[in-house]
Amino acid sequence: MQLTHLKIRDFRNLVDVELEPGAGVNLISGKNASGKTSLLEAIYYLSHLRSFRTPYLSDLINHDATELQLLAKAKDQLGNLIPIGVERSKTSLQVRANQKAIKRVADITAAFPVLAIHPDSYRLITGSPTERRAYIDWGVFHVEHGFFEAWQRYKKAIAQRNAALKTRQRRDYCQLWDRELDNAALHIHSRRQHYMDQMQPFMARLVDQFFPGQQVRLEYKRGWNEDLSLLSVLEQTLDRDLKRGLTQAGPHRADLQIQVDGKSAQTGISRGQQKLLVALLKLAQVQQFTEVAARHCILLYDDLAAELDQHNRTQVLSVLQAMPIQLFLTAIEPGQIDLQSWSDVCMFHVEQGRLS
Ligand SMILES: Nc1ncnc2c1ncn2[C@@H]1O[C@H](COP(=O)(O)OP(=O)(O)OP(=O)(O)O)[C@@H](O)[C@H]1O
Ligand SMILES: [Mg+2]
Repeated sequence: MQLTHLKIRDFRNLVDVELEPGAGVNLISGKNASGKTSLLEAIYYLSHLRSFRTPYLSDLINHDATELQLLAKAKDQLGNLIPIGVERSKTSLQVRANQKAIKRVADITAAFPVLAIHPDSYRLITGSPTERRAYIDWGVFHVEHGFFEAWQRYKKAIAQRNAALKTRQRRDYCQLWDRELDNAALHIHSRRQHYMDQMQPFMARLVDQFFPGQQVRLEYKRGWNEDLSLLSVLEQTLDRDLKRGLTQAGPHRADLQIQVDGKSAQTGISRGQQKLLVALLKLAQVQQFTEVAARHCILLYDDLAAELDQHNRTQVLSVLQAMPIQLFLTAIEPGQIDLQSWSDVCMFHVEQGRLS
């Protein structure tokens, strides 16, 4: 999928912006506060219907407006142009793709896959397991069949079980959903495991290049005792769950443990190394997506120059150059990113929310 046209209305300081990005790399430059990140955020929003930097819609709608609007055209693998439109106010959301109303966010995310690397991405390492599950699940969702449906089933069942636990229902009533949970959990786990197994060689190659001589270990943890079925764990922990009013084991507690030379990446490496490692995790994900899923996604890379030193920046750029993806980069000065050897380059300049 490739973005060929984008019209932005009242998204942060981008009041009225229109651009026709190229199929290769698009470099967006401009001073601080000109609107570079906002532009990437708008593209991300088209795919996820949420932002990578705020959970609040009111942050995204221009302060002088009541709704934001994004109109895009995207070219799919077969060359078909698909119009996508999003209109969002405080009280309503309308999403259309190919002239049809879209009811589930998942449908637009599936059709228009976008990944972002930005200055807060290091939280993938330092933040809560939720961040790491979201990372794994982006890939699992796009690549593994039936994952979304299993996840929906699991979510429904766990909500009901938790409600029963919270209201201190009888034990056998609380256990009504255990079989369904066990079944969905196995499905979710096997897809995640399969995905992470497929990711490992891509990550290993990048680690060899960027962390030579160092051992980077990714260990996917499924969220409940590896030797027992979820059904028996749920049974064993029912008393504790009843006390807490919460189901404490299952794929909703899965995590990805990341170690560098035997030390946790959360505390054992520098912030710069964490940023580099997260960039590699995402690049591996893009590579897996293009090679295994045989599809193309869009990668947004905010502030590349500020994030990495000269050596790593050059190397990351050469990895990016070898990828058949549409890329959006931001920089304060265009000269900070050396694109001389790239063939398909589009340059944009933003100034106070206006694009040239
Ligand atoms: N809802 C909003 N309405 C209007 N302006 C907003 C809104 N949200 C943010 N802004 C402003 O938009 C401007 C652009 O912000 P953005 O983060 O996109 O800049 P940037 O070019 O990425 O800057 P930097 O180089 O510092 O990262 C900022 O001045 C910000 O205060
Ligand atoms: Mg920015």
